[in-house]
Amino acid sequence: MEFQIAVIPGDGIGPEIVTEAMKILDKVGEVYGHTFTYKKLLMGGASIDAYGVPLTEETLEAAKNSDSVLLGAVGGNVGTSRWYQGPPETRPEAGLLGIRKGLELFANIRPAWLYRELADACPLKTEIVGEKGFDMVIMRELTGGLYFGERHTTVENGVRKAVDTLVYDENEIRRIAVKAFEIAAKRSGKVTSVDKANVLDSSRLWRAVVDETAREYPGIQVEHMLVDNAAMQLVMDPGQFDVVLTENMFGDILSDEASEITGSIGMLPSASLGKTKLGLYEPSHGSAPDIAGKDIANPIATILSAAMMLRYSFDLDREADAVEAAVQQALTDGYRTGDIYSEGCRKVGTREMGSVIAGYIR
Ligand code: IPM
Ligand code: MG
Repeated sequence: MEFQIAVIPGDGIGPEIVTEAMKILDKVGEVYGHTFTYKKLLMGGASIDAYGVPLTEETLEAAKNSDSVLLGAVGGNVGTSRWYQGPPETRPEAGLLGIRKGLELFANIRPAWLYRELADACPLKTEIVGEKGFDMVIMRELTGGLYFGERHTTVENGVRKAVDTLVYDENEIRRIAVKAFEIAAKRSGKVTSVDKANVLDSSRLWRAVVDETAREYPGIQVEHMLVDNAAMQLVMDPGQFDVVLTENMFGDILSDEASEITGSIGMLPSASLGKTKLGLYEPSHGSAPDIAGKDIANPIATILSAAMMLRYSFDLDREADAVEAAVQQALTDGYRTGDIYSEGCRKVGTREMGSVIAGYIR
């Protein structure tokens, strides 16, 4: 089959890791007889440099017209980069929020699991992680809440005041809840919905709509957890979670926490989906400008994001399995980038890690 992929390398380590993901896709194409063609697009800082804005209409259109979008990372060093001198809507991250909203990608899937090989890199004690480790999926609402509510900053009587608003309507909650239940149905069948219903109206509505949705999925166990407790449970007993369903801001925070207990944020992929097959696939981590261009970034999160693309946008499950198995094989054989390195392993750079994984695609 033939697929057109919009590729947005972005900033920092973005171009390096995206190159490795394309290497893997090309190998999959060769082995399984598919053709992947790439259309390179600029976003974030790279787009500011070229066009003066973080996301152009043309880029958004081109992304809409592709079969899927592969993204590296956007953004620079907030303290020093020239990209951060203007108002928020002119900064690199505005490009990312713009494309998520523009493509209506309301469901962000962020899996977090512990590879046995990386158990040493996990900052939690062995007693806590236990024999079984953990394997969860964070389902983050991506186009609503605080990220997209009205905001403004004013000065009243010499006092600066800033306002951000958190709004959800029931339809926005229902569609993400449905996605979470669908994914839970394919896994061990439990949804933990995370909110702050003891304080926020939006969370009380969230809880009510999740309960209503749950009635349509009688086989699935549902529990509600307050976000502060969830943050604590993640480091006390991560094995209890299967699918974690939560709103935009809580999901942003909890997914970083979940990724760190896997050993390295450099390992975790993500998929952002909407109503159609078009999805956006990017690593959960950022652009890491401090290590850009040094051939030391871990490309695995981006490679696993490409695997998610094969699975969710193209329905190529066998091919996605092959990529995941190749990553597993590279780890089993001791290949490690610096972020996951431990003694006795083989330290490799970004490009070599990509080539090793490509070589294991069967
Ligand atoms: C993420 C990132 C973004 C977010 C930033 C870069 C705007 O942290 O994808 O988690 O907060 O969504
Ligand atoms: Mg984040």
